[in-house]
Amino acid sequence: MAADLASSGAVPPAWAYTSAGRVIFGRGAVHSAGQLAAQAGGTAAGSMALVCTDTVLAAAGLLDPVLASLRSSGLEVAVFDGGEPEVGRATVERAARMASSKRPSLLIGLGGGSNIDLAKGVATLLAHGGDLDRYYGDSAVPGEILPVMAIPTTAGTGSEVSPVAVFADDARRMKVGVSSAHLVPGWALLDPLLTVSCPPSVTAHSGMDALSHAIEALCALAYTDTEPDASRSRAFCGKNPYSDTLALEAVSLVGRSLIRAYRDGGDLQAREDMMLASLFAGLAFASAGTGLVHALQYPIGALTKTPHGLGNALLLPAVMRFNRPVRAAVLAQVGRRLPGQSASRPDEAAADQAPSQVAELAAALGIRGGLAALGVGAADIAPLAADAATVTRLIQLSPRPVTTADLEAVLRDALEPPAG
Ligand SMILES: NC(=O)c1ccc[n+]([C@@H]2O[C@H](COP(=O)([O-])OP(=O)(O)OC[C@H]3O[C@@H](n4cnc5c(N)ncnc54)[C@H](O)[C@@H]3O)[C@@H](O)[C@H]2O)c1
Ligand SMILES: [Fe+2]
Repeated sequence: MAADLASSGAVPPAWAYTSAGRVIFGRGAVHSAGQLAAQAGGTAAGSMALVCTDTVLAAAGLLDPVLASLRSSGLEVAVFDGGEPEVGRATVERAARMASSKRPSLLIGLGGGSNIDLAKGVATLLAHGGDLDRYYGDSAVPGEILPVMAIPTTAGTGSEVSPVAVFADDARRMKVGVSSAHLVPGWALLDPLLTVSCPPSVTAHSGMDALSHAIEALCALAYTDTEPDASRSRAFCGKNPYSDTLALEAVSLVGRSLIRAYRDGGDLQAREDMMLASLFAGLAFASAGTGLVHALQYPIGALTKTPHGLGNALLLPAVMRFNRPVRAAVLAQVGRRLPGQSASRPDEAAADQAPSQVAELAAALGIRGGLAALGVGAADIAPLAADAATVTRLIQLSPRPVTTADLEAVLRDALEPPAG
């Protein structure tokens, strides 16, 4: 077989993973920011670190330990604190203009996914110039970007280890992604203590984003069934043993600790579990990819201007029902790891129950009412489905072939809460 492949020149299927160069995890980890930045060359003459963050985090006191650690290691530091939720293209370009006069050698994203993606965007523009839209889509970033260190303060996006950055762009009907292996941060510094000040809604939305990443990675097309990638450079290559292991553990951690972290933000064990869940789910989707939840959330996020994780939470049960005919075994495993199911249920029944367990988990976090609660109406369904159908890099990872009519059916399913 191997000899046949070699002589035919065919490319055998393979999976690959892309992850941060160095991951540091633990309570108090933030205090090693300076040492790491110094190792990254940040103390060389004339070099400086630019921290991308926002005023909410500065007011919460989360910027202070980062600045103190950087300065104690002898680094020059500048701060851009104009980050915003669901960060927009204009903000990235504004930050890059400010940064170009400072000539940083290291970008530090301190915050949720929005600020980490802001740092990735600025690092891309400083390295390669031009406007941000030049880099939209897959593999449009021509080479290495400036070094990025990610310090997440939410537990959800996995951006600290992912090859993706997501932006709002007022000129488009979709949120846009820049996807490239060059966007993976060199350093991911995960300190669960930084998430303690997250308000309950941010804990809920970002936690459901992590769950969406894990379930989408578990349900993705298998790597053996995706188009072979001759260069082995594609980030999203389908589900594989690596992504499955991490994603299942992420589901368990969410099942055990998301409601606890939401109800008591000071529950440090729950905060630590959720940060680990976010990391594992991020590593899983960074290799396997995401699917219809994320493809549909791109236009929904742009239309409704609501948080990414909130839209995902409302879409996830409907997408699980869509995947159910071909993913019963894995959905059963998901269901057994979430609250509300006994370990002994047979696979078929367990898989049937899993979508409603996700909806019940979301409801326990105050997320109810279907997409209608975001202001999506019946008239929006056709344009939303048409837009989502263009996100081919995610649609092609669906375990079932998808038509625009299927996307409309999923949206109708997610529009209103189930009766009863
Ligand atoms: N790059 C990726 O791989 C990836 C993956 C998923 C989502 N995303 C993107 O990430 C963004 C969402 O990120 P998010 O869910 O982390 O939220 P966010 O970064 O948008 O933050 C939401 C709000 O919470 C505040 N906040 C964050 N941490 C806090 C803390 N510890 N204490 C108090 N307030 C805090 C922020 O200041 C902000 O006002 C979206 O733009 C989404 O598209 C990116
Ligand atoms: Fe996400």
